Amino acid sequence: MDSLVITRPDDWHLHLRDGEALTHTVPATSQAFERAIVMPNLVPPVTKADQAEAYRRRIMASVPAGQNFDPLMVLYLTDQTTPEDIDAAADSEHVVACKLYPAGATTNSDSGVTRLDALTPTLERMQERKVLLLIHGEVVDPHVDVFDREKQFIDDILLPLRSRLPDLRIVLEHITTSDAVQFVESAGENTAATLTAHHLMCNRNHMLVGGIRPHYYCLPILKRSSHQQALQDIVASGHRRFFLGTDSAPHPIGKKESACGCAGCYTAPYAMPLYAQIFEDLGAIEKLEAFSSLLGPAFYQMPANSGKIRLLRQETQIPDRLELGSDTIVPFLAGESLRWALDTTFSDGQEG
Ligand code: DOR
Ligand code: ZN
Repeated sequence: MDSLVITRPDDWHLHLRDGEALTHTVPATSQAFERAIVMPNLVPPVTKADQAEAYRRRIMASVPAGQNFDPLMVLYLTDQTTPEDIDAAADSEHVVACKLYPAGATTNSDSGVTRLDALTPTLERMQERKVLLLIHGEVVDPHVDVFDREKQFIDDILLPLRSRLPDLRIVLEHITTSDAVQFVESAGENTAATLTAHHLMCNRNHMLVGGIRPHYYCLPILKRSSHQQALQDIVASGHRRFFLGTDSAPHPIGKKESACGCAGCYTAPYAMPLYAQIFEDLGAIEKLEAFSSLLGPAFYQMPANSGKIRLLRQETQIPDRLELGSDTIVPFLAGESLRWALDTTFSDGQEG
């Protein structure tokens, strides 16, 4: 197989940042993806529907001419988010979900939620108005080992939440453990998960053996290989509630190669070649299209895209550095090459 034409995919978990970064991050995603769930962890965070709509207009200003890109917007939940904020989100044109960051769990999460119980009326309104809940599923208790934080979140917070609000549509984002796979499999039709390329491709040895490699540092942190295997097995099985979300999260080089480096892997420019290589290595290339382009829309109750993309069996060389506004960034797998490439001359079935 030398080329692969699939329905144009969507990225169900993406960080675009803001300001001049958008001139790089938006085209990096829009070249391959039609829609993206845009994370709201800006500084300050996107907590109101009108802020989300304004952020979307800034994003749209960076979409290259001739490309279709439809950013789907997300509100950042805080302890102050009210049911009225949810009504405004549900009534807005482009807000489809709210993101739960436990306060302190990750990048720009300081304004996140400290007591989920106190948000019950807000979550009930989300359930009623069909606004999805997207979750960064890690506890922040300093006594809980960083490698156990996802499992602890599932046990202590997610299981009770799931039974309290059975009709709320929940996406457990960027899952990293067999525990998360089992939870989502058994949680029923209203619960799904996104999977990143880096968590499918790597385990903690990639980050820690032979030296500490900050460009593999992300949150939730890479786990041991048995967890990676569970993630690979579930996507190779084609399960309907596990789909693509890159969590592509750019940070300038100085914030990664630092005594206290930021979490995040910048995968967006090469996302589809990365996933194609992963699925091919799993012997499951025939499952790539559903994972990338069909299962996400089905869970979000949206139509699949009508356009197509083409991937070529051709080397993609990942550069050592990329520009990001006035910053420099080291992309994920910098200096390495992939076996697949996105055909940028192909659009909607037309040769360019
Ligand atoms: O690795 C990550 N980077 N995980 C997150 O949860 C946040 C993200 C970011 O915003 O940089
Ligand atoms: Zn993220």
